[in-house]
Amino acid sequence: MRIDIITVLPELIKSPFEHSIIKRALDKGLVEIHFHNLRDFAVNKYGKVDDAQFGGGAGMVMMIEPIDKCISQLKSKRNYDDIIYMTPDAKVLNQKTANTLSLKENFIILCGHYKGIDQRIRDLFITKEISIGDYVLSGGELAAAVLCDSMIRLIPGVLGNETSALSDSFQDDLLAPPVYTRPAEYKGLKTPEILLSGNFPKIEEWRHQKAIERTKTIRPDLLKKEEK
Ligand code: ADE
Repeated sequence: MRIDIITVLPELIKSPFEHSIIKRALDKGLVEIHFHNLRDFAVNKYGKVDDAQFGGGAGMVMMIEPIDKCISQLKSKRNYDDIIYMTPDAKVLNQKTANTLSLKENFIILCGHYKGIDQRIRDLFITKEISIGDYVLSGGELAAAVLCDSMIRLIPGVLGNETSALSDSFQDDLLAPPVYTRPAEYKGLKTPEILLSGNFPKIEEWRHQKAIERTKTIRPDLLKKEEK
């Protein structure tokens, strides 16, 4: 997988890719990430990439020209499966989207700022718009890092034990069951006996039951989705 990230703040978004599972995926060559500073395509020598919005109103809008130049340059070099714009006014990312995207090859991710981007960029280039939740961040960088993390960890070979991604919360629209590790008892707090029993079919049954209970309490909307 190759991901090209277009941003006005490359330094802000680099660090999530320098640690843990995502770093290992990069080191193994399973994914390549390239950062593109939008200011390299600015309309003047002062690095201008935004302007006031037509029609008036507070907040700046990211201009069409720098983004067009950057995306067109990338597109002239290779084909992209999707050109994604991170924005709060879009469908919210879920595990299904992460699964689907993890099977693709090349992406451009555009990080928005200020009031957003000129609509003509959306009309012309953007094939997918993704929000990471119903709240507004200062920019799309952290959202892009979240999206990348959710996709990269699903690429075959990235996680040591591939079944561990399959038992994550949301893979089956259920939250994950509780987990325990040594010591079996700590200050009188015990691990449920079943997990120490070695009876794996029973353990699986218990985990599934706990997953349903947890989902019912915390995210009943996920169960409703299943019933549809
Ligand atoms: N940019 C600002 N807020 C965002 C959000 N919630 N999701 C994606 N991109 C964003």
